[in-house]
Amino acid sequence: MCGIVGYIGYRDAYPIIVKGLQRLEYRGYDSAGIALFDGEEINLSKTKGKVDDLKKKAEGSISLKGNLGIGHTRWATHGAPNDVNSHPHYSNSGDLVIIHNGIIENYDAIKKELINRGYVFSSDTDTEVLVNLIEEVKRKENVKLGHAVQIALNQVVGAYAIAVIDKQKPDEIVVAKLGSPLAIGIGEKEFFVASDASPFIEYTNNAVYLEDEEMAIIRLGKEIKLRKIKDNSIAYPSIQELQLNLEEIEKGGFEHFMLKEIYEQPRAILDTYRGRLLAKEGLIRMAGIDENLEKFLNANRIIIVACGTSWHAGLVAEYIFEDLARIPVEVEYASEFRYRNPVVTENDVLIAISQSGETADTLAAIKLAKEKGAFVFGVCNVVGSSIARETDAGAYTHAGPEIGVASTKAFTTQITVLTLLALKLAKAKGVFNNTRFHEYLTELEQIPAKVEEVLLTNPLVEIIADVYKDSPNCLYLGRGYNFPVALEGALKLKEISYIHAEGYPAAEMKHGPIALIDEHMPVVVIATSKGHYEKIVSNIQEIKSRKGKIIAVVTKGDVQVRELADHVIEVPETLENLTPLLTTIPLQLLSYHIAVMRGCNVDQPRNLAKSVTVE
Ligand code: M6R
Repeated sequence: MCGIVGYIGYRDAYPIIVKGLQRLEYRGYDSAGIALFDGEEINLSKTKGKVDDLKKKAEGSISLKGNLGIGHTRWATHGAPNDVNSHPHYSNSGDLVIIHNGIIENYDAIKKELINRGYVFSSDTDTEVLVNLIEEVKRKENVKLGHAVQIALNQVVGAYAIAVIDKQKPDEIVVAKLGSPLAIGIGEKEFFVASDASPFIEYTNNAVYLEDEEMAIIRLGKEIKLRKIKDNSIAYPSIQELQLNLEEIEKGGFEHFMLKEIYEQPRAILDTYRGRLLAKEGLIRMAGIDENLEKFLNANRIIIVACGTSWHAGLVAEYIFEDLARIPVEVEYASEFRYRNPVVTENDVLIAISQSGETADTLAAIKLAKEKGAFVFGVCNVVGSSIARETDAGAYTHAGPEIGVASTKAFTTQITVLTLLALKLAKAKGVFNNTRFHEYLTELEQIPAKVEEVLLTNPLVEIIADVYKDSPNCLYLGRGYNFPVALEGALKLKEISYIHAEGYPAAEMKHGPIALIDEHMPVVVIATSKGHYEKIVSNIQEIKSRKGKIIAVVTKGDVQVRELADHVIEVPETLENLTPLLTTIPLQLLSYHIAVMRGCNVDQPRNLAKSVTVE
């Protein structure tokens, strides 16, 4: 979490850093700060609040001059989100300034030692400890900044992406990475540093992504020097051409990124299967799977690890893999898996699902599974992310940048990739004959158009949102493939509107949650025609007889549920396994409208960040 930006070159650093921080606000937005070096002084401004608050503060209080600068947008870990704890942090002498994304786990012991040596601290952060450790090393060992950073980092335990500047070095930024992402943009006579490439996309298409335990000394007029932090050996930068374009990271006329991303789903799903699903040829072609098909076919079982929305996509995948390919699947929260001494063998395949590809728990679960010899396959959206690099093979979702903190298109595109994988395995195992396989491929090709059709329900969903926007609670129920959709619907509502919401398998209701139902409780029920329809109609009857308010998502033309429900949202008919790709859309829209009507910050909900790079 936290976003970092740096610039060194011939332009004014201030506007580049501010715009860059705004693009990185999805990573954290409880405080922000900037340090600008005009060649003589390092001027620093920081504040609790968003980058807009920082702009207001900085523009009236410090000199904005300088062709070198660093900036930070924070998601607090150590120390409350206030002005003092915001980054950047000065060292005691005022010579060094640092920004940091990550956690220094042994900061307390280091801090005590530094206090014994006379250092004083003004913040509660681990970052201020790190910058003073670097200063102490620099002083004691009489070394230059780069060397001091390296020695200091060898003494810390934890995760970091840092950028450090030194008043004695007006042409240099030192950066380092372990566990948190860090990209260096390489322009003509200028360099950029950022947590991802979005802050510098309009200036250069060339970037170097630091690997874990690498650092770089970025000096104006020189080639960047990469070193391994552990042993000081030289690392050679591999310059990548960026695929990102500016349009993709802007709102494009939508009021919020979340709404834009909901509406992008037909295109995103199409991009995800484009070139992979070849219906006419009766083929699915995916390099990461084709090259490793035997691993999947010989697997004892598939273990899926993920967090949040990606975990919900994993649950849908469990149903699809077991139902279509007849391969046993277990789905685990990455955070539980990594700490519970799981039984994993070399005969297991682990699939890690992550939009950002940076989620710390998922990354740790991958490392654990690899140590135990399992084959690890990644399903990520962000190209070149840590998870994409750490896995043995994988498939990208091609959803395009997802900036709204609430995942939307990531979910549907993850399900698309996992469906392609399951279909491929079903065919290879002989569970599917050509006719059935072809039926699935042609139906999957229809999904983008069907999602477009579901998006037409938006005005109706907005009216429903208006009725329930003040409810303090909401239940979501579904069976089979729509149970994970119920969980996902509830997560969307709680994270952006702060309404308490829970998802349940509909049949579980009578084992407890039914006690919650009265005339004030809205219950969203996903009741599509295929898969346990009669059973879910009975569940709806049970809610109705307890006076609960029913919002039903049904298949087009439904009659039975329409008679019982207070509101009905129709989705087109599709194969049962593909229903989550349609039924999830109205639930995304419902939570979006409720959050907007409640005046919530939809794209940057409180206490959250887009990528969770801490445990
Ligand atoms: O980047 P990841 O898919 O690994 O992120 C996992 C969760 O943090 C994420 O899905 C989170 O739950 C979203 N805010 C949900 O909308």
